[in-house]
Amino acid sequence: MHDRLKYYKTKLSDNDFIKISEHVERKCGIRLPRQKKAMVQNRLYKRLIEIEISTFEEYVKFVFSSKGNEEVNHMIDEITTNKTDFFREIKHFNFLENIILKKQTDFKIWSAGCSTGEEPYTIAMILDKNLINYNIVASDLSEKVLDVAQKGVYKPEVVKNMQLEYLQKYFDKIEENNKELYKIKFHLKKHIKFLNINLKDQTYNISQNFDIIFFRNVLIYFNIEVQNEILTKILKHLKIGGYLFIGHSESIYNLKLPLKSVSHSVFQKINT
Ligand SMILES: C[S@@+](CC[C@H](N)C(=O)[O-])C[C@H]1O[C@@H](n2cnc3c(N)ncnc32)[C@H](O)[C@@H]1O
Repeated sequence: MHDRLKYYKTKLSDNDFIKISEHVERKCGIRLPRQKKAMVQNRLYKRLIEIEISTFEEYVKFVFSSKGNEEVNHMIDEITTNKTDFFREIKHFNFLENIILKKQTDFKIWSAGCSTGEEPYTIAMILDKNLINYNIVASDLSEKVLDVAQKGVYKPEVVKNMQLEYLQKYFDKIEENNKELYKIKFHLKKHIKFLNINLKDQTYNISQNFDIIFFRNVLIYFNIEVQNEILTKILKHLKIGGYLFIGHSESIYNLKLPLKSVSHSVFQKINT
């Protein structure tokens, strides 16, 4: 392994940053304005060390060469922001439990942009607790986060704010390398199918229509045209009367979509 310090001397040039940002936006819709250059540089240092390339110039040449296809995926893995949490934006889950689940006993749900799995597992815990029949598709663009989601094993700090009732009922306490970890129980996991889906792709491997789509804290990374394009495609998979959840800080009021607002950042699909 090279001396790590060597890499920290290399800097990402403006031209190389533009090559990366244009590619990332074209491929997955994520906008990387100039202010994100330092973030991109910091996140990609790891890749340089990992594959033992000592300058960004060489790295960018490699990524965009015929041999760089796999590295493009690693690069995108590093660049995506995967922040998530169990029971994140709790008002959504209150609305789900107190309003939506009262309407029927069977649900098909899509968690689009599921990151490391906390969102689909939160949904599954609430549905299980309410004795609902359900299937969840949980998808993300990043293989790295999907791998964590699929394993369903979390550090104590990730579950520390969870109500004891959920922790006891839906997690097994396990030990790995002398560390205590929390593993999602199989009876919950078996209802969730994890898929690698890039929502920017023209078509993707989803055949069913859902009663509910969680598409939270993903829109924020796209420009308005991409938001419109991606949401129009996503909504084709939502039943009329079905619910769409977006992040609390996101807005879709500028977009023309077949939706009516039913609660803060919750929408219902209407017939047009
Ligand atoms: C901030 S996380 C949100 C996780 C979860 N939905 C939540 O609200 O806690 C955003 C996720 O969107 C994913 N993402 C970004 N662009 C995407 C795209 N074009 N297709 C699919 N997933 C994408 C990222 O990989 C990341 O895991």
